[in-house]
Amino acid sequence: MSHSNGYIIGFAASVCFVCAIFVAGSAVALKERQEVNKLLDKQKNVLSVSGHMPDDTSGDSVRATYAQYIRPKVVDLQTGQYVEGVEPSTFDQREARDTPELSRAAPAGNAAKVLRLPNHGLMYQVTSGDTVESIILPIEGKGLWSTLYGFLALAPDGSTIKGLTFYEHAETPGLGGEVDNPRWKSLWVGRKAFNDQGKVAIKVIKGSAGPVESDPHHVDGLSGATLTARGVSASLEFWLGENGWGPYLNRIRAGGV
Ligand SMILES: Cc1cc2nc3c(=O)[nH]c(=O)nc-3n(C[C@H](O)[C@H](O)[C@H](O)COP(=O)(O)O)c2cc1C
Repeated sequence: MSHSNGYIIGFAASVCFVCAIFVAGSAVALKERQEVNKLLDKQKNVLSVSGHMPDDTSGDSVRATYAQYIRPKVVDLQTGQYVEGVEPSTFDQREARDTPELSRAAPAGNAAKVLRLPNHGLMYQVTSGDTVESIILPIEGKGLWSTLYGFLALAPDGSTIKGLTFYEHAETPGLGGEVDNPRWKSLWVGRKAFNDQGKVAIKVIKGSAGPVESDPHHVDGLSGATLTARGVSASLEFWLGENGWGPYLNRIRAGGV
């Protein structure tokens, strides 16, 4: 049995139409779930670097632990002051960075290859009752293949490192991807971001660094991944500096809260 051209075209168009409705419907129906999962993932990353990740990593447990310990704050990066009137739970720093009215061009040629700077940044206070036990700052910068997005946790002195974790990157597993290696991440704990003159001093070196007490500003290199390691150092230098969290950290190091 043969069909007319009109029938074949009509049949193909109907199949396309039904599929399009199905795909669009699924995308709309799943959007809310995707947003919830995205938020949960972010909360897990913050909890992980805060040291308060619960053993039970179900959504309810993560949300409850986050609510107990984490206080998100929006900061004006140029003044270092907290911003009132912007809701931290819905503020998206990366979205702000990509919105022309909410950002500005980063200084050209910076080593972290940051292109745009949001006017406001989103950081987190890790609290125990009324006491701030650490602060978590987002950082980002280019490695070899990708932009690495991470969180740096500092003690309330604004310099002692409590942890560093990258939650998004596309460096090569086994090479630059070793930024995720728990052993390498543990090397950061206790080191000092700033030297006694208040300059950013923390750096990944080539080869091995000494113990925290005698070599507080250096961390072991990543073997076979010097370019990623250089990106990590550049990222820290940029975000701890005057164009990133520097003004905020100056305020904190001077005894501010
Ligand atoms: C397939 C492939 C993937 C690589 N991935 C990375 C990487 O993710 N990060 C990195 O720094 N170097 C990577 N490299 C190596 C760099 O090209 C470069 O050789 C290295 O960063 C130098 O580090 P080293 O001085 O410690 O050997 C890769 C090389 C190849 C061939």
